[in-house]
Amino acid sequence: MSLAMDFDVIVLGAGAAGLMAALAAGQRGRRVAVLDHAAEAGRKILISGGGRCNFTNLDTDAGRFLSGNPHFAKSALARFGPADILAMIERHGIAWHEKTLGQLFCDGSARAVVAMLLAECDAGGVDIRLSHRITDVVGGDGFSVATDHGTFRAPALVLATGGLSIPKMGATGLSHAIARQFGLRVTPTLPALVPLTIDAATPGWVPDLAGVSLDVVARCGTTRFREAMLFTHRGLSGPAILQVSSYWDSGREICLDLMPGRDAAEALRAAKRQRPRVEGRTMLSGFLPQRLAQAMAMHHLPDGPVGDMPDAVLNRLGQHLGRWCLVPAGTEGFAKAEVTRGGIDTRDLSSRTMEARSVPGLYAVGEAVDVTGWLGGYNFQWAWASGHAAGRAI
Ligand code: FDA
Repeated sequence: MSLAMDFDVIVLGAGAAGLMAALAAGQRGRRVAVLDHAAEAGRKILISGGGRCNFTNLDTDAGRFLSGNPHFAKSALARFGPADILAMIERHGIAWHEKTLGQLFCDGSARAVVAMLLAECDAGGVDIRLSHRITDVVGGDGFSVATDHGTFRAPALVLATGGLSIPKMGATGLSHAIARQFGLRVTPTLPALVPLTIDAATPGWVPDLAGVSLDVVARCGTTRFREAMLFTHRGLSGPAILQVSSYWDSGREICLDLMPGRDAAEALRAAKRQRPRVEGRTMLSGFLPQRLAQAMAMHHLPDGPVGDMPDAVLNRLGQHLGRWCLVPAGTEGFAKAEVTRGGIDTRDLSSRTMEARSVPGLYAVGEAVDVTGWLGGYNFQWAWASGHAAGRAI
């Protein structure tokens, strides 16, 4: 019979949020164990931001997070914001740069961020156990976590196993299942920051544009993003689409402005006056990538010089380019989603400490919670802030 290993805190998940909770609690003198089934800590950090980890965003604000309670993230973000993670990054001598839209990336490999978290955990005496399969969690007098390497016990348990995105990297719904087991609510989970698929038969869809990218405004309802969009073999991707995907629900339309920042109809009429002898596709290639210009001209303009085209035809195309609305068939699912929307219901957690309101000692942090950031470093910022809030409270 193996004896249980006793700690002050058990953290499930050695990702961004779990390691932050562990280091904060460890550095306050708590005896912390982190358990993870993966063979390596922080695997999502390693692949994030194209290998350079977009570790925060200077424009962090609760408005850039989706949640059943839009105010929930405020408290943790106010107490551990972009400046705090940046201070840690700088303390560890990690070179960084601002790319665009407030996004901060490492100059070098994301591995430096994982090394930083592990060094901080080490400074707090945190015991990180990898390749541990969690088989059971029991509450009562504290928490007992059974694994294939023995049982761990502690009066505090932090759920930090993340969301459901990229199951092939080891994502599971463990935190959601444990939360439910202890009576917490879990809001419906959906892929977010995910490419959208378009059925080839969708009215107005233009097939065979895979690889074409351009700056657009993508809108879903009243939420709009101006960023790059990419046509794929299955539909649409690129930052603008990933951003709106988090707001999209099945059956809703998304609308694209392919000529953002200008009145497309007016621009086409002006182009006609300036170069009346050119063909429609040549005129459009002044505004759109060539393959898209060609496709749009083929579908929406008659042959011949633009000078012969009535303004009404150009107005119609201009309206179409300024407001191209499509109903996506779906998303590329959790296999391709950067994050999970939904999760442990914020109504059941303290926004100050991340502790479950009805289960003393049970905490939930990071992506497992129903707080989803925009693309651009916001999800890590939430992982740091929520992890830190829990680690400071335990
Ligand atoms: P995270 O998923 O990081 O960690 C969870 C841990 O729990 C993992 O170590 C996992 O192995 C473990 N685990 C899961 N199930 C378990 C089980 N059953 N038993 C034991 N352990 C278990 N965000 C951002 O802000 N900037 C960026 O640049 C990017 N880039 C990016 C790229 C890609 C390709 C993806 C998929 C995601 C991003 N993200 C991102 C999102 C970001 O990676 C994500 O929001 C955070 O990693 C969430 O941190 P958590 O610690 O909550 O979960």
